[in-house]
Amino acid sequence: MSNKPLECIEMHTSAGASATVSLFGGHLISWKPQTDAQEQLYLSEIANMDGSKAIRGGVPVLFPHFGAQSNSPNHGFARLSKWHQISRTTTIHKDVLTLALSADEETKQIWPFEFNLCLTVSLSDSNIHLELSVENTSENTFSFSGGLHTYFSTSDIVKTQLLGLKNCQYIEQDQQHEELQRIVEIRSETDRVYLTGERKLDLISPERRVVVESSGFTETVVWNPWSDGSEKMTDMKNDDYLTMLCVEAVIATEKICLHPKQVWSGSQSLKYESGSGQFVDKETS
Ligand code: BG6
Repeated sequence: MSNKPLECIEMHTSAGASATVSLFGGHLISWKPQTDAQEQLYLSEIANMDGSKAIRGGVPVLFPHFGAQSNSPNHGFARLSKWHQISRTTTIHKDVLTLALSADEETKQIWPFEFNLCLTVSLSDSNIHLELSVENTSENTFSFSGGLHTYFSTSDIVKTQLLGLKNCQYIEQDQQHEELQRIVEIRSETDRVYLTGERKLDLISPERRVVVESSGFTETVVWNPWSDGSEKMTDMKNDDYLTMLCVEAVIATEKICLHPKQVWSGSQSLKYESGSGQFVDKETS
């Protein structure tokens, strides 16, 4: 947890896809697929980018817990820690980067376990795949939660649709509901934990469609703070709720138990579909 400017790694494919990963947080902050040089991730213009606070946007890594826990920062310390590069492999159509974070004196004061957390970012021409793994390198069993808190950009939240959640149970404000809509649209503050398991979702905004696929994670959080929530955040402009939507692959409601030497892994894959972004008309679909 330092105050130095962020050290970032630039990733590319020869066809023109690009991504930027910050060592602070092990945090993907930009993704542009080759078929469209447009930014696909939301990153707040007033995000704190000096390593003193979590970055508002991109894909924060949440670990060792999702949300609030006493004596620990919200969503855990991984997004506030300096990661290091483990490997990098580049071919014409693929750029693969692995970063890692392990326990140190600072993390042990918050969470007393030895662990090895790895994030592998695989950039292909129209796809980015994020794989998170947790290895228990301590002598005791531990349990953890967390996730990949992906912030998507959109030109208009009102014309943004999420498909693939129909009939899924979700928890919002401690109440359990069933999603009745085939097309989920955001019209007010939304903070839902969908009990999805592994699932394929379609995120449609006026400019494109992104297929969001997760594996290993047990839930999907759909979050937009809306106007009141944006106003309360010092690192997000008041109107930014109109241009972002989080679709997060998480373990939120029940922690995963890992015995010594055991490894867990989960992934979120984002596939850009050129030209297929279109508003699905509820009446005719
Ligand atoms: C989401 C939670 O995952 O993260 C929200 O469901 C929370 O409740 C949001 O407000 C942002 O959290 P933070 O710590 O980055 O402000």
